[in-house]
Amino acid sequence: MTHNRTTFATKLGVIAAAVGSAVGLGNIWRFPYEVGQSGGGAFLLVYLLCVALLGIPLITAEFVIGRASRTNVARAFKKLAPGSPWGIIGYLSVLAPFLILCYYTIIAGWTIEYLYQALTNGFAGKSPEVLKNEFVAFSTGTWQPIIWIAIFMAANYAIIVGGVKKGIERASNVMMPLLFVLLVVFCINSFFLPGGGEGFRFFLQPDFSKLTPAILLRAMGQAFFSLSLAMGCLVTYSSYFGDETRLGKTAATVAWLDTLVAVMAGIMIFPAVFSFGISPTAGPDLVYITLPNVFMMMPGGYIWAVLFFILLALAALTSTVSLFEVVTAFMIEEYHMSRRRALGWVLGSVFVLAVVCSLSLGPWNGLRLFGMDIFDIFDYVSANILLPVGGLLISLFVGYKLDRNTVYRQVTNDGRLRIGYFKPLMFLLRYFCPIAIALIFLSGLGLF
Ligand code: PHE
Repeated sequence: MTHNRTTFATKLGVIAAAVGSAVGLGNIWRFPYEVGQSGGGAFLLVYLLCVALLGIPLITAEFVIGRASRTNVARAFKKLAPGSPWGIIGYLSVLAPFLILCYYTIIAGWTIEYLYQALTNGFAGKSPEVLKNEFVAFSTGTWQPIIWIAIFMAANYAIIVGGVKKGIERASNVMMPLLFVLLVVFCINSFFLPGGGEGFRFFLQPDFSKLTPAILLRAMGQAFFSLSLAMGCLVTYSSYFGDETRLGKTAATVAWLDTLVAVMAGIMIFPAVFSFGISPTAGPDLVYITLPNVFMMMPGGYIWAVLFFILLALAALTSTVSLFEVVTAFMIEEYHMSRRRALGWVLGSVFVLAVVCSLSLGPWNGLRLFGMDIFDIFDYVSANILLPVGGLLISLFVGYKLDRNTVYRQVTNDGRLRIGYFKPLMFLLRYFCPIAIALIFLSGLGLF
């Protein structure tokens, strides 16, 4: 394999960047609220199965595509299957991150607002009612959310403009270990909360009577989103992998570290939620409305709040960096732009759309298409249409279209590695993944 694209400098860099992409608001904000609404432990169990049977094979498949093609995600499919319609997957995989960025950056902006509130002790002495009203007033406001989006974008620019080695790798190397350390501290703290035991039971003890097909599908969807599947991120990052990176092993490591962070987030949140008598079914508001209140009731609450929102902002940042990198790499290589120029275009257009999305939550709330506001449309189209279709096509592409020998050479590093998982991997990619993802898709559209 000869190539002259930059590659990640170290093994830690490979893992940290890929984990940095996977670990984000999805783990720390979305996972706990999904668990809370789905009744706890049984959801967790199904989620773990989904990661193992759906997540790991699909991550491996994306790594195979990325390293075999060593190019941006849009060109990767055209390069591996020239003259075939499969190239469309590449464009889907650029479109999805672009759309996701338009609303993910809003939520990331909220995180910075809450970090600011925490730093200025803005939660102190407020009742849950007041905190909730303040959240609604803030998130439906005009200027404040937009300013935070701009600041969050600037942070992304600073990291990505440095390029793969200097920017992303260095940033991830520092941020990801820091995130782990902070989470460990929160998990330990959970053991000391009075009445927290009920939260541990809720989260870790499966109640199978709660397991419905709908919950099964929600767990699969959450796994999909959290692992950054079908969004070109993993294809793009693996195009920077060195020849010695073990694809299967890296895929499993990324998947389990991402899952570990989600589980730690659960251990951080549920004992606290139960200890302070808050409903675990609070939904998407859980983090932004409930936790500040929880922190204020904890000893040393000021510090906990500050640390938590730093952690959440960092997790969001490493995820959006990977999303921006997909679109930026595409612009650089397809339109022969400089990194700076490409990034300027991508950030600029995402910013405009993010502002429109943010306004659609407040002042422009009347603006509707198919009964949804603009924020919902971006979320719906990317998460419920582009991702399942992309994931389905990726499993079919690697399972059926890509030459079996190419896949074999990628997962064995040109035959240098002895691996026992090749046949099971191909089985999962050819049969299990397409069927499972098809179920998610059909249920998402309400057709199933
Ligand atoms: N997986 C990230 C999270 O859990 C979100 C993300 C999706 C990041 C897609 C990159 C690509 O928050």
